[in-house]
Amino acid sequence: MSNQYVIVPQNYRSDSMVSISPADKRYFEQAQAKQKSPPQQMMFGGYSPSPSLQKSLSTQLSEQSIDDFSRMQKDSDTELVVQYILQLRDADKREQALSELSKKRESFPHLAPLLWHSVGTIAIFLQEIAVVYQHLQPAQLTQAQSSRICSVLGLLQCLALHVQTRSCFLRAHIPLFLYPFLNTSNKSKAFENLRVTSLGVIGALVKGDDPEAINFLMQTEIIPLCLRIMKKGQELSRTVATFIVQKILLDDNGLNYICQTPERFFAVSQVLQTMIDDLHQSQKDDQRLLRHIIRCYLRLSENQKAGEVLKKYLPQVLKDPTQSFIKDEVVKKWHNNLLQNLSIK
Ligand code: TRP
Repeated sequence: MSNQYVIVPQNYRSDSMVSISPADKRYFEQAQAKQKSPPQQMMFGGYSPSPSLQKSLSTQLSEQSIDDFSRMQKDSDTELVVQYILQLRDADKREQALSELSKKRESFPHLAPLLWHSVGTIAIFLQEIAVVYQHLQPAQLTQAQSSRICSVLGLLQCLALHVQTRSCFLRAHIPLFLYPFLNTSNKSKAFENLRVTSLGVIGALVKGDDPEAINFLMQTEIIPLCLRIMKKGQELSRTVATFIVQKILLDDNGLNYICQTPERFFAVSQVLQTMIDDLHQSQKDDQRLLRHIIRCYLRLSENQKAGEVLKKYLPQVLKDPTQSFIKDEVVKKWHNNLLQNLSIK
């Protein structure tokens, strides 16, 4: 049997920060064991239950303890996931496999390490991404292409979230491959989905308050990309982009970085101001976006230099301590703290 069907962990250095848990190791071993017995793969329409699962299937359920039953479900889930990962290598089955795998993101906790350490999977993802670049300029992305790439991005999000893969993901500089998607301005649904889902991957990276993720992002052009989306984007992409900037600001290095030069500070504060003006003028009741904006302002006010400048540049509507378009109690408190930090009240 050709080794294209073997799923094995890629070599990783013993001093690597990433370790594979015994449970993940078992999955790889199961996958390898399976390819040693090819006839089984033809049963159940290509889906082959493990010997333990076959035994379970042929035994009365009433004889099984609940434990056995849940183990049986886990077995079959693992086998399905492994099958889909293998199917990624088959061009005809890839689209379906991507879609099925992305649906398993939340229900299958070991998906991220399995994806990362299986041979060729990440290369396939990068290949899928590279295919889309040619459709960005001129803008020709179809809805079908957009949802296919969004499945890939969903799986990247899962790698960005998982503690065992996040660091590998950063060291391989995978986020950079998404920046061309963020650097688009086409308003169609296909492009907006692509932007929102790409931002979702970056959002997943910063969600864990991991300084390694923040430090990585700071060395890239993610902030100007986010600022552009905050200024001109649609509702959802704008909210996720603001969340990312908020998370960078909440990190000490992130705050210092943004307040280090007047150009950086003003780039951020001007976009925040534009968003506040926009919300105020359009009477849009977007409390979620407002929450992120106020949190960004509050954090900026904690930097001495930025605070002095903000005193002058805070949008007029926010200088009013009684203004009513903030509804959330927590956000009202942040707003009060902001005004206090700036000695406005
Ligand atoms: N390379 C730019 C810089 O270091 C990145 C950048 C542009 C930036 N605009 C920004 C960083 C606004 C922070 C805030 O300045």
